Amino acid sequence: MNQIRPIVELGDPRLRQEAEVVQCVLADTVINIISDMKATLTSTDGVGLAAPQIGASYQIIIIGSRPTGRYPLAPQMDPIVMLNPKFIATSDDCEKDWEGCLSIPGIRALVPRHTNIQVDFQDTSGSWQQLNLSGFIARVFQHEFDHLIGHVYLDRVESSHDIVTEKSFQELYL
Ligand code: NI
Repeated sequence: MNQIRPIVELGDPRLRQEAEVVQCVLADTVINIISDMKATLTSTDGVGLAAPQIGASYQIIIIGSRPTGRYPLAPQMDPIVMLNPKFIATSDDCEKDWEGCLSIPGIRALVPRHTNIQVDFQDTSGSWQQLNLSGFIARVFQHEFDHLIGHVYLDRVESSHDIVTEKSFQELYL
């Protein structure tokens, strides 16, 4: 049974831990975490979620880009669940764009990210998959991946001048 879980917010030490490798992809606990993550993400305007954000310290993320109130220009895609993901940049290109985080309400910032990446991950049946991602989806991946190593996007901001409130962001940039 899937449950919407409260989002862990910045300041909670669980957001600063390194998440554990998922050893047994088909374990009931893992299946439950994934279904709770899906329910929780669907209940928000977010475009991705990492397991530590619902208090589960495992290497699991969902990339679920779709146009929402928070991200009206986000591309539509079927959500992808990734376990034990890793990535490498496949070009030297980086770009700055706006990010927000369900764990840091009320704030947006410009964050530099790799434009093109190659991702390896296990799917929900445990098979290893490889995907090339670019642009916004690559950005969402790198944001969620950060949550698995105890980072948040504010750690990547180059200048405090690149941080704005949600209200200003809505007025100035949407
Ligand atoms: Ni986040």
